Amino acid sequence: MISPLQRHDKLVRATDLDALSCRFNANQRGYFIPPDKYIPEMIRSYQKHLPFCQGYTNLSVNRTLRAAFQEPKLPLINRGTYFRTKSIDIVLDDFISQHENKCQIVSLGSGSDTRAFRTLEKYPDSGVIYHEIDFPESTKIKRAAIVNNSEIMKLIKSGDLIENVAVSSREEFESLKSDFHTSVYHLYGLDLRKLTSSSVEFPHVDPTLPTIIISECVLCYLTPEENVQILSYWTDMFTSSCPTATMAFLIYEPMSLNDSFGKTMVKNLSGRGITLPTFEKFPDLDSRKQFYTGFGFNNANVTDLSVIGGYEKEGQSWITKEEFNRISSLELVDEVEEIKLLLRHYCLIFTGIGQNIRNVNLFNKDG
Ligand SMILES: C[S@@+](CC[C@H](N)C(=O)[O-])C[C@H]1O[C@@H](n2cnc3c(N)ncnc32)[C@H](O)[C@@H]1O
Repeated sequence: MISPLQRHDKLVRATDLDALSCRFNANQRGYFIPPDKYIPEMIRSYQKHLPFCQGYTNLSVNRTLRAAFQEPKLPLINRGTYFRTKSIDIVLDDFISQHENKCQIVSLGSGSDTRAFRTLEKYPDSGVIYHEIDFPESTKIKRAAIVNNSEIMKLIKSGDLIENVAVSSREEFESLKSDFHTSVYHLYGLDLRKLTSSSVEFPHVDPTLPTIIISECVLCYLTPEENVQILSYWTDMFTSSCPTATMAFLIYEPMSLNDSFGKTMVKNLSGRGITLPTFEKFPDLDSRKQFYTGFGFNNANVTDLSVIGGYEKEGQSWITKEEFNRISSLELVDEVEEIKLLLRHYCLIFTGIGQNIRNVNLFNKDG
């Protein structure tokens, strides 16, 4: 038997399978160029290790994996996954180039996301350092995927000696390492809710380096109070060590807009036992802007995926017309109003302290 908190955390961890299956589908459909070659290793690791995770049985694992990877996603969902991934990549590239490839990326609740590997591949032998944090159970699955793949091992500068992780019981899974550290990549198995105490330290995080902290659909699973604690934890770490620190937050998550589409989203998630505490507390871009500026950040650049996709005004799009035509030709999405409605419910926020946080051009295109 697992406790209500353990059950809650299991459901939250399982949202990573949703994210992975969306990326898997969009990748298969040809949305990403170059294709994401790291996704299959993440799926293999889930297939091998999910049966040993808390709250799963062989039967429920089969059902979960079948639902995630055998049912194709709707074109609308693939389009949303493309804009979600692309927009975060664009802000990240912008940040890296502004800091002349010498910076740090911290991904909160990184799950099985492959952006760390794609980024380190894109900026080899540069000063880019990537940190990823998730629950220990999730980072064990990711660590096993990493050490099983010589290409990933090479690009995170861990040599190309692979470790074949073979687990045949829950006890063996329990004893797997959840952390992994190289000169350019750090993986930490940690509950973000523990970041409230000064006893948690990240000796590998350099507070003097320009840093971007990403939360891609993560902080939304935590309460507004926990959000404040986590934001304060990082802000205090950077400002107390370096008064001129540049520390940006890039936050992507759904918002309710207080409309019937938002209500349906809540109903669907609560049917799976999941709640999104910030979803209704900060229902739109204005309330989010107010929250982050009220928190003391320099500015909060806010937008939504519909603007980013150019569905509101063509001139505001973050992608070129050719790229838009390319993705539009992959699958037919005939209901433009439907896709607009979906994309308007996902925000992207760039905020923080230090240089280059104010009025980022990307967020201020007036079309
Ligand atoms: C929807 S998934 C997103 C994964 C990844 N960011 C992506 O977009 O592909 C949410 C992730 O947040 C992680 N997460 C949520 N709450 C967390 C917490 N308190 N501590 C650590 N990780 C957490 C989950 O385990 C899961 O991997």
